[in-house]
Amino acid sequence: MQWKVESIHMHAAPLDYFLHAAGPAAGPTMVLGWALAALSMAVIVIVALLLAVATARRRRIEADHAGPTIVRDEKTGMRWVYIGTGISSVFLIAALAYTLFTLDSVAAPPRAPSLTLTVTAYDWWWKVEYSDADGGPALVTANEIHIPVGEPVKIVLKSADVIHAFWVPQLAGKTQTIPGQINEQWIQADAPGVYRGQCSQFCGAQHAHMAFEVVAQDHAAFDAWRSTEAKPATPVAGAANALALHGQKLFLDRCAGCHTVRGTDANGAQAPDLTHLDTRRLIAAGTMTNTREHQLDWIAHAQRIKPDSLMPSIALTANDAAALSAYLATLH
Ligand code: HEC
Repeated sequence: MQWKVESIHMHAAPLDYFLHAAGPAAGPTMVLGWALAALSMAVIVIVALLLAVATARRRRIEADHAGPTIVRDEKTGMRWVYIGTGISSVFLIAALAYTLFTLDSVAAPPRAPSLTLTVTAYDWWWKVEYSDADGGPALVTANEIHIPVGEPVKIVLKSADVIHAFWVPQLAGKTQTIPGQINEQWIQADAPGVYRGQCSQFCGAQHAHMAFEVVAQDHAAFDAWRSTEAKPATPVAGAANALALHGQKLFLDRCAGCHTVRGTDANGAQAPDLTHLDTRRLIAAGTMTNTREHQLDWIAHAQRIKPDSLMPSIALTANDAAALSAYLATLH
């Protein structure tokens, strides 16, 4: 079965990210987040009300007695400080205990994960690696993580440069990726669909454009996707494909230093693997939908679309652009 973009729908009205957890790792942390937000709001409202009352009372006192206000009863004043500190401490300790219990409840998945992925954060995209340790084929892709629905999946998190954070709000809490260190996270999606993820640790100019998607599929669709992605690309050959052949040559000359296309001589390691570029829903780490026009726009204007990104803008003649586009279309 061929993996089809249209067959998947987004679980993603913006508020959904924070209102509807889609798996057991996210439910308790989402409730915790709202509980802590409600507590903070209550504190702000209470402090504001007390301040308003105090201001009004002071005006009245000043109106009654002209001249400086005299503190008449120091003990009564201090009593309010003790009461205030006491009440705040009770709520803070309760919030701490609730937070620790919640973190503990989502620390480990309900059963051993059947799949382990390695995700490495780069300025400003995500490398995704499946190993053959679980019996499926190994592969490398970027910015799009496929998982089987209803299964806990372990994610080993690394960083290639600075500190980033891996966060799919509907599937789990956030976890940092730290250079030289390996962190772990588990996610599980209870319903098929596309769940948006985002770098949530400020990591530089294009931090906001460092998104990714988790695509949860039933087992058959997931296995089909995985076996497609694991295959090398078929190099273009033959006079019938003159345009794509020219595009392939351009790719090897201008792009292969950074990008890999498995099955060809392109084996650059500092940029997203493009072997099956055409199967991805989005490009440039969630910035644009993956259409032919957007691909060419990105290649010509990467520095305008994501200023400071590590992909240069590459000027091409109309003929070269058409050839490159014809070649990229073979990467399915
Ligand atoms: C100097 C290294 C470099 C060169 C040369 C380069 N790229 Fe890139 N490319 C990158 C990096 C880094 C990214 C990720 C940028 C980001 O999303 O922040 C990228 C992203 C892309 C993407 C989006 C992939 C995705 O899944 O998001 C495409 C498509 C792409 N490049 C095509 C090309 C083509 C075609 C060429 C040659 C004409 C090329 N690149 C040359 C470094 C390079």
